[in-house]
Amino acid sequence: MKLICNDCLEELSKMDEESVDLVITSPPYDDLREYNSYVNFEEIIKQLYRVLKRGGVVVWNINDKIKNGSKTLSSFRQAIIFQTTGFNVNDVMIWEKTNPMPQVKQPRYNQVFEYMFIFSKGKPKTFNPILVDCKSADKYYRSTCKKITKGKERTYKEFIINKKKVDSNVWRFAVAQNKTEHPAVFPLELPMKHIQSWSNEGDLVLDPFMGSGTTGLACKLLNRDFIGIELDPNYCKIAEERINGERKDNAGDNTVL
Ligand SMILES: C[S@@+](CC[C@H](N)C(=O)[O-])C[C@H]1O[C@@H](n2cnc3c(N)ncnc32)[C@H](O)[C@@H]1O
Repeated sequence: MKLICNDCLEELSKMDEESVDLVITSPPYDDLREYNSYVNFEEIIKQLYRVLKRGGVVVWNINDKIKNGSKTLSSFRQAIIFQTTGFNVNDVMIWEKTNPMPQVKQPRYNQVFEYMFIFSKGKPKTFNPILVDCKSADKYYRSTCKKITKGKERTYKEFIINKKKVDSNVWRFAVAQNKTEHPAVFPLELPMKHIQSWSNEGDLVLDPFMGSGTTGLACKLLNRDFIGIELDPNYCKIAEERINGERKDNAGDNTVL
């Protein structure tokens, strides 16, 4: 585990090429939160491409601000930069918040989700899908089988529905209720589920916008190596204490999936 307190662009440019298996991060959202930082997304994304192994994955959690009555769409602008840098857009996943802030006096429905873009350098080298129960498990269904359809005759084949299926790309978590001084802490399940999905034990996970260190904590619980980079020394200290188990004020940190 390596925690670095500095600007991520400076640190990324010092890292070895093709050394990282998985990136899980949440950059500052527009100027929603004031972090006293300028973020050069184009250069950071280029560096992420360089340090990522072939088949490695980036999980990019982001949302948009509303400016002058209109959504900024910075999330999609950043996604296009990933694509033009050479990443595959493997998926656009949704984190649906189970406890969203009620919204008043806005001419739109309540914002209850954030994006989790899944970018990959080529085809993902690891995918350990989370499986969920199938409601219709063990029932039969009939389907036309193309290969054995002759002329106008339709041939049907019966299939039995499996007990388990691959989970959907909409994940539901509560916004973290911890009491650290950081304003935008991941729910622990978010990095936990992505780490399980896109990496194996012993792999190296990077969070260039580490904040209070939730990705690092999840790596510790799941036996992954971790590099975290954070600009603000106060947040670095919180991250170090959380990862070392020295803080008792983090509701949800004991979650085991
Ligand atoms: C959305 S927060 C990440 C929160 C994190 N996922 C957690 O669970 O606590 C973004 C973080 O990026 C940090 N940051 C902003 N600019 C940075 C930069 N240039 N280099 C490194 N960290 C930066 C901010 O201080 C902030 O803590």
